Amino acid sequence: MRFEKARYTERFGSVRINEVQKILELDSGRANGNNAGETIAAQRIEEDVMRDLEEKTLIVIPTKNEKLKLLEGVVSGIPHDCSILIVSNSQRKDVDRFRMERDMLEQYCHFTRRKAHIIHQKEPLLAKALEEGGYKDIIDDEGLIRNGKAEGMIASIFMAMLLGKSYIGFIDADNYFPGAVWEYVKCYVAGFSMAKSPFSMVRIQWRYKPKISEGIYFRKWGRVSEITNKYMNLLISNRSGFETDIIKTGNAGEHAMSIELAELLCYASRFAVEPQELISDGDKHGVDIFQMETRNPHLHEDKGEEHLQDMLMPGLSTIYHSAICDEITKAKIALELFQQKLIGENEEPPKPQLAAPPKQINLAKFRESIADYIPMFSVLEE
Ligand code: GDD
Ligand code: MG
Repeated sequence: MRFEKARYTERFGSVRINEVQKILELDSGRANGNNAGETIAAQRIEEDVMRDLEEKTLIVIPTKNEKLKLLEGVVSGIPHDCSILIVSNSQRKDVDRFRMERDMLEQYCHFTRRKAHIIHQKEPLLAKALEEGGYKDIIDDEGLIRNGKAEGMIASIFMAMLLGKSYIGFIDADNYFPGAVWEYVKCYVAGFSMAKSPFSMVRIQWRYKPKISEGIYFRKWGRVSEITNKYMNLLISNRSGFETDIIKTGNAGEHAMSIELAELLCYASRFAVEPQELISDGDKHGVDIFQMETRNPHLHEDKGEEHLQDMLMPGLSTIYHSAICDEITKAKIALELFQQKLIGENEEPPKPQLAAPPKQINLAKFRESIADYIPMFSVLEE
C-alpha cells in the first residue's frame, strides 16, 4: 500500500498527533526493494511488513443484535493473518441471536481454515474472572459486565492481553462494505509500522460517509464528529496558544492501539470512549497518533437522530471534565450543550464514569480463573 506521509505533526505534551494521511494506492505492487524517491511525500508499505503486524493484531468486532449478514460481511473483510474476536451483547432469550452468531463464525472458520473467538459480554465466567483479577470497574450490581460498546471493548482488551497480542483494533459490526473493513485493518497496521513509540494509536477518518435519502449524497463529516473535533481542537489550541484543526477523528469508532497503550488508558463508558482515549493521560509516556483517511466510503446502519444526541453529551462531557480542560473550553462546551438543549443554563454536564487502566488487573489470577472458559470461546478448525 502507499500512503501520504504526514506533513505536519502537532505535539501536545509528549503526544504526537499526526495530520490526516491519505491512501494513495490500495495496492502498490510487487516488492522491488526500490523505494528511491518515495521518502519525501509518500511511503510505501510492503506486504510482508503488514502481514507480520497482522499476525500480532486482534481485531475486535463489538456487536449487539446486528443483522447476521452484516456481521458475516465484516468478518469476511478481516485479513487472514489477524485474530478475530466477536464481543457480543446480543439477545439470548426467545431467539438466541448469540447462538446464531457463533454458528455463523464456526461455519466461516471451517471454510476459511482460520481461528476466531467469540464471547458474550454477559457471560458470568468472564465477569467472575475480571473480579478475581481485581478489576471491577465494568461490573454491575448483578455481578455481570455492564451493557455498552465501551464495556465490550474493555473486556476485549483483557482478552487480547490473555492471547498475548501486541495490537488491538476495533471494527463495528454494522458495516455494509467488507472492502472497507479490509481497508481499516490495513490502515491500522500501516500506522503501527510508522510508529516510533511503543505506545501508538491509529484512528480512521472516512473519505465519505454517504447518506441515502432521495439519491445518494457523499457526505464527508458526521454531525457528532464535527462538534467533538471542534472542542478537542479548541482544548489543544487553548493549551498551546496556537489555533489548530489537527484532530479530525475525535469520534472514530474505528481505531486501533498497541496493547501497551491500551493497557494504560482510562476508559469512559458508552459513546464517550473514543474522545476519552484521545485525551487520556498516556502523554506521560510519549504516544504516536495516526489519522488515516480511507478510500472506501463508510456505510453503516442508520440508527436515527435521537441516537446522535445520545452520543454528543458523553463525548463533550468527557472533554469538559478532563483534568487538562481550560475554563474557556469548558464555557464553550457548556454553551454548546445548552444550545443543543442537552443541559440547562449554567449547568455542568454530568461527569463521565471512568474505568481504570486495564493494566491494573492481576493478569495471572484472571488467566487462572478464565482457563476453563477458554475452550468455549475459541472457534477453531484444525
Ligand atoms: N459488545 C457490545 N455491547 N457491542 C455493542 C453494544 C453493547 O452493549 N452496543 C452497541 N454495540 C455495537 C453495535 O452492534 C455496533 O457494531 C457498534 O457497537 C457501534 O454501535 P452503533 O450503534 O452502530 O453506533 P454508531 O454507528 O451510532 O456509532 C459509531 O460511530 C461513532 C462515530 O461516528 C460507534 O463506533 C461509536 O463508538 C462512534 O463514536
Ligand atoms: Mg453504527
